[in-house]
Amino acid sequence: MNTIVNGLQWGDEGKGKIVDYLTESADFVVRGQGGNNAGHTVIVGENKYILHLVPSGILWPGKQNVIGNGVVLDPLGLIQEIATLEDQGVTISPDNLLISDRAHVVLPYHCDLDAAQEQARGKFAIGTTRRGIGPAYSDKATRNGLRLADLLDPGMARELVSVRLEDANQFLGLHNMDSHDPAAILTAVEGALERLRPHVTNTIPTLHQAWKTGQNIVFEGAQGTFLDVDFGTYPFVTSSNTTSGGACTGSGLPPVAIDRVVGVCKAYTTRVGEGAHITENQELSDYLHGLGREFGATTGRKRRCGWLDCVLLRFACMVNGVTDLAVTNLDGLDEREEIRVCTAYDLDGIEHSYPPAQRDAWERAKPIYESHPGWMSDTSGCRSWEDLPGNARNYLDRLSELAGAPVRYVGIGPDREQTILL
Ligand code: GDP
Ligand code: IMO
Ligand code: MG
Repeated sequence: MNTIVNGLQWGDEGKGKIVDYLTESADFVVRGQGGNNAGHTVIVGENKYILHLVPSGILWPGKQNVIGNGVVLDPLGLIQEIATLEDQGVTISPDNLLISDRAHVVLPYHCDLDAAQEQARGKFAIGTTRRGIGPAYSDKATRNGLRLADLLDPGMARELVSVRLEDANQFLGLHNMDSHDPAAILTAVEGALERLRPHVTNTIPTLHQAWKTGQNIVFEGAQGTFLDVDFGTYPFVTSSNTTSGGACTGSGLPPVAIDRVVGVCKAYTTRVGEGAHITENQELSDYLHGLGREFGATTGRKRRCGWLDCVLLRFACMVNGVTDLAVTNLDGLDEREEIRVCTAYDLDGIEHSYPPAQRDAWERAKPIYESHPGWMSDTSGCRSWEDLPGNARNYLDRLSELAGAPVRYVGIGPDREQTILL
């Protein structure tokens, strides 16, 4: 059984926790897109792990984790992440982490280019994570990128980095940023590359072998549907396909290898960074932040919170082909007397069931809400559908109806144990 796990909102839906849950019965966990802009939190007992590039399956012994060709990989970021995980007692070797030789790399100049581009955008800044993601994917698309296989070949790396920097340094100079020296860049990543070299391989035959021998593969999506470069709130998006198709192009496993798609959403909606958020609600944001929740796992920024937006959810279930919904953070609404759900957008007096494409339409769209009575009780100890209060079950039933997909998992706390299987 091969399962894609995707975010259905603007990221941070709780994908890490759901992937960790599914890993118990998996053999492989694969990341196919994004980079260390991702921050996936997994809590196991007293320990909190935040994964950026390493698949969340790393926390279970005996599972093979793969960073696929579609990921943009920052070697310095990755060795730091590996060191942090090792300090937390996680063992990492080629026996549990393989990296595609075709993955493009993020080098220090990509991070500076990211910052310079944000500066150049002025009031249209995207609010990126500044991890160099956009510039690295641009280099890939314009065929100026380096893949790990290139970087591991010193002669090739020197030549490619020198050529790329001729142009990149000019752009950095225009934005009053220091230029980079090719030799210094390669020296800076030398140690990281030696640490990573044993993990780097052609991961595609390995994954095909796993598929053909009936092993269970979980694909861990990063970001969410509305950060997808095609389907998201463009241009306030990331630079990869965060939707289910990205799992195939990012791993080399074909669509026919996929059995199901688990779409992860929060019981409300959050977003970090700039761009539209139709149901954003200051009072709900303040309330959740007051509970110590909804701070970004990568940048620590406050997430902008709002009510559940089912216009987004409906569209996300379509484009991802969601077969099962995982609704997380239901417990965040435990003490709310009234819970609102956006069922459609009002755009210039016309009701819309799907998100608009035009940038300015996002600014004019108004949410059309329906209201639900809260359950006003603590769900964190619930372990079955029957344990959940009636109003919580009604809320989930309505969510499922509006989204057009069945709810299969419900999160009622951040811990590994706090997932209800329906
Ligand atoms: P990801 O990027 O999709 O993996 O999500 P993040 O880890 O960035 O953000 C999700 C946050 O919600 C993390 O702090 C998780 O520990 C937490 N979380 C996930 N599911 C639940 C849940 O059901 N209840 C609560 N209270 N927290 C959850
Ligand atoms: P996970 O995997 C939430 C947002 C940034 C910014 C936009 C573009 O943890 O869900 P980028 O650095 O990718 O060029 O930034 O995308 N963003 C995320 N928001 N969760 C993420 O990942 C994100 N990765 C990027 O805040 O608005
Ligand atoms: Mg996150």
